[in-house]
Amino acid sequence: MTRSYRIASVPADGIGPEVIAAGLEVLDAVASRDGGFTLNIDHYGWGSDWYRKHGVFMPPDGLAWLRTADAIYFGAVGDPNVPDHVSLWGLRLQICQGFDQYANVRPTRILPGVTSPLRDVGPGDLDWVIVRENSEGEYAGQGGRTHRGLPEEVATETAIFTRRGVERIMRYAFQLAQSRPRKHLTVVTKSNAQRHGMVFWDEIAGLVSHDFPDVTWDKELVDAMTMRMVRKPQTVDTVVATNLHADILSDLAAALAGSLGIAPTGNIDPERRAPSMFEPIHGSAFDITGKGIANPVATFWTGAMMLEHLGEKPAADLLMRAVEQVCAAGILSPDLGGKATTKEVTAAVVEAVRGMNR
Ligand code: NAI
Ligand code: MG
Repeated sequence: MTRSYRIASVPADGIGPEVIAAGLEVLDAVASRDGGFTLNIDHYGWGSDWYRKHGVFMPPDGLAWLRTADAIYFGAVGDPNVPDHVSLWGLRLQICQGFDQYANVRPTRILPGVTSPLRDVGPGDLDWVIVRENSEGEYAGQGGRTHRGLPEEVATETAIFTRRGVERIMRYAFQLAQSRPRKHLTVVTKSNAQRHGMVFWDEIAGLVSHDFPDVTWDKELVDAMTMRMVRKPQTVDTVVATNLHADILSDLAAALAGSLGIAPTGNIDPERRAPSMFEPIHGSAFDITGKGIANPVATFWTGAMMLEHLGEKPAADLLMRAVEQVCAAGILSPDLGGKATTKEVTAAVVEAVRGMNR
């Protein structure tokens, strides 16, 4: 019997609709090629235009709608005329926090045909997965402002670390490291300066590590980690860090792998109580919106992560082989130094998928 999945598509703003349309086209080709499953897409038109019309980024029962899906395929949210904290909290974080998608997983690799800005670093030298704690830490939303506008004004932004929160992300990261060939995890903190939450984080890493005797692990301060990623990328494999630290490290990782336009991510609920959400790391990129040159590769890779999460690993691998073949052939968008449009890259990947052996 054919397996069937419901995908909630939320393209939202800027280049989001351009890359999600490309992604859906490629996923459709993969499903046809595989033959073992079908994807049924629910389209949701939420985002900043919706906000202008309705005063909210999604309807009050939006999460209930999304819950009926097996996975969410998300574009990007952000509009030049809406403050970024309003759009981010109005849609993306509503979903991540509403569904407790506590593991944000960000693989990075240099694809064939893509040049890293690092001298002498090619495919194979840089193969990382960054695990970002996605439910608390610095982005817990705790804090406030008083005495607004007065010289006495105070603003606080409190980072929250709970034993439950840190332990579950640490366990997830050790498990992921264990599943990869090198079985190596780097635990990133800033435990020299932040002596409460970050020391707690290190302690819990130590405790959880006892359950994973075959995983080697080390600790790195976040500032030193930026240097290590640039100078010794071969020494890094799986990385776990807080919400803020991993947010920054993963943009660096994307740049070192060639472009933000290829970097994918999954907002995962490992316990599968609710659908997980897959999205390119990049934002809505107003500067190139409507020009037809957005790189769809991040969204394709994101689609492969989604297929893998749904249990369709062979289809995910097939999609990635097709993407790699197209990149290796030099069919690259301008952010990677090429001349291909979004449509040209998409057509090439669809063709590669059709010609691919299963
Ligand atoms: P951005 O990621 O939208 O763009 C940064 C730079 O990378 C721009 O020069 C852009 O043209 C380029 N770029 C990004 N994606 C690309 C792609 N697929 N192909 C080719 N070039 C690409 O980040 P920025 O400019 O800081 O933010 C723009 C808006 O997006 C803001 O409103 C921000 O809040 C929002 N944003 C949303 C995110 C999300 O929905 N997850 C993530 C990051 C930003
Ligand atoms: Mg970011």
